[in-house]
Amino acid sequence: MTQTPPMVPADYPEGPALDDDPEDGSRRDFLIAGSTVAGASMIPMSSLSAASARNKAADSVRQTSLTLTVNGERRELQIDNRQSLLDLLRESLQLTGTKKGCNQGACGACTILVNGRRIVSCLAPAALYDGAQITTIEGLASGDQLHPLQQAFIDHEGFQCGYCTAGQIMSGVACIKEGHATSEREAKYWMSGNICRCGAYAGISAAVVEVARGGQS
Ligand code: FES
Ligand code: FES
Repeated sequence: MTQTPPMVPADYPEGPALDDDPEDGSRRDFLIAGSTVAGASMIPMSSLSAASARNKAADSVRQTSLTLTVNGERRELQIDNRQSLLDLLRESLQLTGTKKGCNQGACGACTILVNGRRIVSCLAPAALYDGAQITTIEGLASGDQLHPLQQAFIDHEGFQCGYCTAGQIMSGVACIKEGHATSEREAKYWMSGNICRCGAYAGISAAVVEVARGGQS
């Protein structure tokens, strides 16, 4: 059985025809635009310049002067207080060998040496490291002469895609210096914060132990 649509009562008022008068749209647009301009012109100039002064003051509060020694080179920098050491290295100094993996301290890809100790640079606010000595993967080789651990990674195939490799090598250098690489088992334990998604752990630990045993760190 089909349903008959309800009848519209004869005295039902006609609604406004929104689309059939081309002038309606232009009138609405005119009113909206007019009210916006009128609203903007009601903001006093003194408020605008006060806001701009506040923004400038906030910008200067967010800046810190910093002196670092990076791979033996003294660098004087003006940094944003919110910048991590990782972002400072990669974005301000273009030292992109240090990699950003998780950016939350969980993978070790961003490992660098600060005053000889390994840290994850993604969690290190750069402003706290004024005067620090920093070594990154770019600072390990001497000219064309690779660091022994870099060479050992090649010899033991301690990488596949290479994304974790800079962090692994920096962590390995520190691990050897700490005396935590007397066996592969020990090296794996002390480097467990460095994740390799390609699973090249056998080559990594073999390389670290070989260099530790050779006394080259
Ligand atoms: Fe720093 Fe993962 S990027 S620990
Ligand atoms: Fe690919 Fe380690 S070599 S993540």
